Amino acid sequence: MLTFDFSGKAAVVTGAGGGMGQAIARAMLKAGGMVAMLDLKPEPEGYGQFGERAIYARGDLTDESFVRSTIDDAARRFGRLDYLANVAGVLWFGRDKSALEMDLAVWDQVFAINLKSMVHTARAAVPHMRASGGGAMVHFSTIQCLRGDPLPQDAYSASKAAVGALSRSLAMQLAAENIRSNAIYPGPTQTPMQARWDTPEKVASVGSHIPMGRVGRPEEIANAALFLLSDGASYITGIDLIVDGGMLLK
Ligand SMILES: NC(=O)c1ccc[n+]([C@@H]2O[C@H](COP(=O)([O-])OP(=O)(O)OC[C@H]3O[C@@H](n4cnc5c(N)ncnc54)[C@H](O)[C@@H]3O)[C@@H](O)[C@H]2O)c1
Repeated sequence: MLTFDFSGKAAVVTGAGGGMGQAIARAMLKAGGMVAMLDLKPEPEGYGQFGERAIYARGDLTDESFVRSTIDDAARRFGRLDYLANVAGVLWFGRDKSALEMDLAVWDQVFAINLKSMVHTARAAVPHMRASGGGAMVHFSTIQCLRGDPLPQDAYSASKAAVGALSRSLAMQLAAENIRSNAIYPGPTQTPMQARWDTPEKVASVGSHIPMGRVGRPEEIANAALFLLSDGASYITGIDLIVDGGMLLK
């Protein structure tokens, strides 16, 4: 396990009620950081032990006023803001299909959650990072947007490709202000999003298609996120980091 020290630093983590967001928030809190967590889901157990270093706000990231007021409030209570992890996302099996036939209301909803929420969080967080003298962001894409799929989920893939594009553009715009922006592209990882893998046999079957022979664990993706946010990555901005056990090699 990698060890980090985020003492005295403050982060916003979206999707913190889900698999990877929770792993990132918990790792950041254990490393001494202050974390504001945003998610639609109720607060998971176990944050009480972190006292005032943990804030959990339940709400919808497509609601710009919820995002802004929560981030402003967190920056005020923490006295600063250093990091933003845009982890929330949706993959709607069955409803997200080929662009040629899917319901365009679903298309718009997926884009609002996967892409536009990142605009809301960045617009709210960057002024506080500037006030803190710099910062770092990670944004969650997927390896799925880098390849084709015989069963397309076009809104997911296209919105996640745009996450990478926007991450690189923010990196360019903010580099001179010491604010870094990087994107993470996970491969198949066991989280609530993949509830369809509901038996050990199904998990093993997905893993058998991956060169490393298994699906990822949320903590492994969190390690990549914490590294990119940390000072260990102080000269890394605008990159696309693939964390997939070698899946894209195939
Ligand atoms: N699990 C995988 O195999 C995998 C692979 C590649 C990429 N990803 C990406 O990684 C990120 C994290 O995925 P995960 O596997 O932890 O998923 P997850 O479903 O466990 O967590 C996602 C969280 O986002 C929250 N969320 C969704 N819509 C929201 C909204 N409108 N407002 C507030 N919160 C909202 C959900 O409530 C959920 O808790 C996602 O962006 C996902 O697309 C996941």
